[in-house]
Formats: sequence, structure tokens, C-alpha cells
Amino acid sequence: MVRVAASFLSALAGLAVAPWIPQALAADAVDGLNAPPPPPPPPPSGRDCTGVKAIHPACGQIEPPYRRDFFYVGGSLLPGAFGNVTVGQLYVEKLTPAQGVRQPKPLVFFHGGGGFTGGTWLNTPDNRRGFAAWFLQQGYQVYLVDQPGLGRSSSNDLANFPLMAGSGPELVEAGFTAVEDYLSYPQAALHTQWPGTGHKGDPAFDQFAAAIIPSSTNRTATELAMRTAGCQLLSLIGPSYLIQHSYGGHWGILLSNDCGQNVAGSINLESSTIPFWWYGVGLGGTSQRPWGLTETKIDYVPAISSPSELQVISVGNETLAHRNCYLQKEPARKLPKIAKVPYLLLTTEASVHITFAHCLNDYMKQVGAKPDWVKLADVGIKGNGHFMYLEKNSDLIAGVVHKWIQGRR
Ligand SMILES: *[C@@H]1O[C@H](CO)[C@@H](O)[C@H](O)[C@H]1NC(C)=O
Ligand SMILES: *[C@@H]1O[C@H](CO)[C@@H](O)[C@H](O)[C@H]1NC(C)=O
Ligand SMILES: *[C@@H]1O[C@H](CO)[C@@H](O)[C@H](O)[C@H]1NC(C)=O
Repeated sequence: MVRVAASFLSALAGLAVAPWIPQALAADAVDGLNAPPPPPPPPPSGRDCTGVKAIHPACGQIEPPYRRDFFYVGGSLLPGAFGNVTVGQLYVEKLTPAQGVRQPKPLVFFHGGGGFTGGTWLNTPDNRRGFAAWFLQQGYQVYLVDQPGLGRSSSNDLANFPLMAGSGPELVEAGFTAVEDYLSYPQAALHTQWPGTGHKGDPAFDQFAAAIIPSSTNRTATELAMRTAGCQLLSLIGPSYLIQHSYGGHWGILLSNDCGQNVAGSINLESSTIPFWWYGVGLGGTSQRPWGLTETKIDYVPAISSPSELQVISVGNETLAHRNCYLQKEPARKLPKIAKVPYLLLTTEASVHITFAHCLNDYMKQVGAKPDWVKLADVGIKGNGHFMYLEKNSDLIAGVVHKWIQGRR
């Protein structure tokens, strides 16, 4: 495992020291599997095809060809005012490459929290090929999920899935798209990859911000529903790689715990499963994830029945550039089911996660896992924020993920 990780990093470093390789080519060069994407057809002269204006028929199509089917997976009946209703079912889109499937295992994409949906993996807000399409062009079978209680997985169990509004544009600017203008942590100054200004009124920003819809306040109910339906999905499609952004990182942990035989690898684009804690803007923060990585029970060894049995200590001094961590006091309890699943954590140069992602890496090691932690700046991929899969160099980041998957075969 350690050897695989080392050669993986040196291979990436090789990719990174050739900055002259055009983005699309560098990504495609990873294993020579496909041709570069066809460029979008040029818009008729004078037509503005930025942001939502690209919806006009004359602007052509951005995504490469694939076939789409949709399904609802899992669910159970709950008596309601209008008879029994289905609850806990998961909306899943199955995208199949037009050229046919050429990779042995599927990819299941899980969006992040705060009101994003499975749609976030499709064409980017500035109308480039999205992450899902990049992998479709590499021949992967792709599945896109809306998490329970949100979007097309909105729950009929209204009592257990109350909704909260998604973040407004001002918070999105400060936290994600224009962090360099707010500088709430020092590394924010390095952010250069967001397409456009990152502020209201920019067509890409406006598309991005408008995609944020309500999600459930009840993280416990959301976790429980995903544990059931997510494992049902994996039992239907077989061992798969999970590609997760931010809050979606919870699903890799929980599904590894519950049905790890069907998780070929857990791939985390800045997972928010930061142990025991969520950091505020400025110093300090709030307790979260009493089970360390989750709100709901995961299987520690030696076993515990309450998270209060975990002995949690603060490690390190807190600065805005490098936060303190909450880890277990040694000897730490382990998470053998989760530790068995290959785990990749990507962290960007300019996201707030660079200030605390070490805590997650350290905790994964403490519970017995062998995480591959790639700080993208170390392999020459610089200037990204938290939504790296939508940013200007998203193809390069997809290439890092693809390379890691190829290294696991
Ligand atoms: C709901 O399902 C239960 C259990 O299957 C059944 O007993 C009940 O009659 C159903 N309710 C309605 C309104 O059909
Ligand atoms: C959240 O969901 C859990 C599990 O369904 C339930 O036990 C709890 O009462 C819910 N809490 C709120 C505040 O809705
Ligand atoms: C934390 O700060 C204290 C007081 O400034 C200092 O004595 C200590 O060495 C620091 N510890 C670490 C791990 O940096």
C-alpha cells in the first residue's frame, strides 16, 4: 500500500513538472485511453453563450455524448395522510459512455452539502465539460446521486427531514468562489482558478449560486437513509469507486463501514468529515460528528455503544493557517471496516480545507487506515478552492483521480 502510494505520487509529480502540456491533453495523456473532447461549437457570431445564455439552441451542446437512464433505489412505506408513501428512496442517474464501457468498475458521484445536487457533476457553471463527462470519456460507467432529503431525493417523511434554505450568494463568494477577496485565512490569497470573478453578476457565478437548493437540517436522518439506500445501490451495481465532494465524504465512511465489500475506493475531494469538529470563520468552531467521522454509529474496535466512550483530545496550537485537531487519546480505538477500504483525500492550495485537512489525514491513520493524502499544490496543481471540480483546471484534477484509480487495479 505504502509503495503504491509513493509510486502514485511520483507519477503525479512527473505529470506536474510538464507545465507545457495543455490541460485537456495532460488529463487524456494519463493512459492514452481517449481523444481530447470535441470543443463546443463556436457560437454564431455576436451571440453571448456565457452562463445561462448557453441554454439557447444556437449555443450548441457542451457535454460529450452519453446515454442517460434514471432509477429510484431502496425506500420503504410510511403511513401518511394520503395513504402509504415511499420514504428513504434515492434518486440515481445512470450515465453510460456512448463509446461503451471500458473500465472494470463504475464510479458513483456524491455531491457536497449545503444544497448542491447530483447535477453539480454535469457541465460546469462556465459551460465546460464537467467531471462526470470527463470520466465518461475515459470509459467509466457513471452514477449520479441526489442525497436523501434533497432535490429529487426529497423525503416524503416531512417530520424527520425538515428543510433549510441553501447558502446565499454572499456566503458563497466569501467561502468558495472569491475567498481571495475576503482573506479569512492566509492561503485564500492563492485562489486563482475560479472561472470568472466569483462575484454576483458574473454569468458563471450566477449559474453556480442559483443551483443551491434546500437540504435537510437533520443530518442523522440523512445519514441513516443513505446508509440503507446507498448500500442497496452498491449491491445492485457491484463494487464501485465513490467520488465525493465535501459533505459527500460522509457516504464513503458510512458505506465503507456498512458494505465495504462493494466500495472499491473512497475518493474525497475535500471531505468535510473533519474529526469531531467544524471550524468557524476565524478561530474556534463547534462540535460535530460525535462518532469522529459521522453523526451516527460506526464500528470501533474495541466496541463502544456511545460516542462519549471515545476519549478526545485537542492536538496542536490553533492558527488561522493551521488549525488544531481533535483526535483520540492513545491508545486509540480503530475502525477496521473503514480502514480496509482504499482512501484518497485531495486538498487544494487555497481552500480553507488546507488549514485543517491534516486533522482528517491524522485521524484516518489513527484509526488504522492508510490514507493517500494529496495536496494538489505538491503535484503542481495550484490556485484551487473548495469547488476544484468546477474550476478552470478541473480536467487536471480529474486526471489525478483517474491515475489513482488506475493504480489500484
Ligand atoms: C399501508 O401499508 C400497510 C402495510 O403493508 C397496510 O397494512 C395498509 O393497509 C396500507 N395503507 C393503505 C392506506 O393502503
Ligand atoms: C432526525 O432524524 C432522526 C432519525 O430519523 C429522528 O430520530 C430525530 O427525531 C430527527 N430529529 C429532528 C430534529 O427532526
Ligand atoms: C503551542 O504554543 C505554546 C505557547 O505559545 C508553546 O509553548 C508550544 O510549544 C506550542 N506547541 C506546538 C505544538 O506548537
